[in-house]
Amino acid sequence: VLCVHVLFFCILHLFVLKHSLQYLVTASSGVPNIPEYMGAMMLDDIQLGSCDSINKTVEPKQDWVKKMLENETELLEILTQECFQGWKNFGKCISSLKEQFQSEGVHILQKREGCEWDEKTGEVTGFSQYGYNGEDFVEIDLNRLTWIALKPEAAITKQRWDADSGRTKNKKNFLTNIYPEWMKKSLSYGNSSLQRTVLPSVSLLQKTPSSPVSCYATGFYPKRVMMFWRKDGEEIHEGVDHREILPNDDETFQMNVDLNVSSVKPEDWRRYDCVFQLSNSEQVITKLDKTVIRTNCAKTILCNDGVVAAVVVLSVAAVGFVVYKKKKGKRFK
Ligand SMILES: *[C@@H]1O[C@H](CO)[C@@H](O)[C@H](O)[C@H]1NC(C)=O
Ligand SMILES: *[C@@H]1O[C@H](CO)[C@@H](O)[C@H](O)[C@H]1NC(C)=O
Ligand SMILES: *[C@@H]1O[C@H](CO)[C@@H](O)[C@H](O)[C@H]1NC(C)=O
Ligand SMILES: *[C@@H]1O[C@H](CO)[C@@H](O)[C@H](O)[C@H]1NC(C)=O
Repeated sequence: VLCVHVLFFCILHLFVLKHSLQYLVTASSGVPNIPEYMGAMMLDDIQLGSCDSINKTVEPKQDWVKKMLENETELLEILTQECFQGWKNFGKCISSLKEQFQSEGVHILQKREGCEWDEKTGEVTGFSQYGYNGEDFVEIDLNRLTWIALKPEAAITKQRWDADSGRTKNKKNFLTNIYPEWMKKSLSYGNSSLQRTVLPSVSLLQKTPSSPVSCYATGFYPKRVMMFWRKDGEEIHEGVDHREILPNDDETFQMNVDLNVSSVKPEDWRRYDCVFQLSNSEQVITKLDKTVIRTNCAKTILCNDGVVAAVVVLSVAAVGFVVYKKKKGKRFK
């Protein structure tokens, strides 16, 4: 499954250049300490801006988005309107769902809408999907201009929304004209920032001498990367475990690929290396070398293993733990 997943990911990201612009909304009722309405505009994997029912303003998340909104005042107006109107509509929607299901407690309504643009074929596809309490609920059928109930309980909502054909037409216009226009504007304003490439710092981590060696890359951009282990210069799959790519706080990404070294003889270690590769073929190669591995062994023993071991490494652990936390704090947040 992992192999297929990774393959799929590579094909998706390396060979088909698709861009997407999507507006993600989470609205809730009965959840303390989070805003009732939160919206985020995403271009590919990058958050352009957000709005919520506490701040009540559209907040750009990138410098170039700030510039774009200063210049494109109409766009800012539409987004602000969308945020306020969306907040009201979602509130109403949750109320009527509460009534329909006769249930109190937590209710979460989510929306994902926008468009996808295939750079090669020029094809643009719009989508609008809603989820209720974590499950798919309804989505738009742009050809028939109707809504599709994705579960039986959504039939009432589908009927109601189908009856409002003006709203459905308006939605289609948004998804097939306005979102693509915003996407093209965003791609053009953000061009230099979106086209940048940043190589990561790569390190080798290992919890205990018998656990897998993790090749850990952090701080790279864009997300379209490949990372793998090689033996004698050839990519290997056995004993290799790919982890998913995660975002950092600073618009860069991190990932790791683990190698099970339990059956690798010490003299064979030097035959292995870890390759990090950006889509424009820049590479970072890291040799499997015991002397450069960073370990949090002390911490792990302290947490999991026997008391005797814990006493022996206690003083090391105190120091090791602090250093480890400083270096890797973000990753395990
Ligand atoms: C809301 O505003 C506060 C203060 O201006 C800011 O620190 C916070 O990040 C904002 N929240 C969001 C979700 O934009
Ligand atoms: C600002 O918008 C105007 C009109 O839409 C356009 O002609 C101009 O090039 C834009 N400025 C920048 C810096 O993109
Ligand atoms: C981005 O800039 C490059 C050259 O700097 C140009 O070839 C490309 O067309 C630009 N893309 C967009 C979407 O403006
Ligand atoms: C590593 O491989 C050995 C056999 O070669 C296996 O017993 C062990 O479970 C593997 N460890 C992990 C973490 O996959």
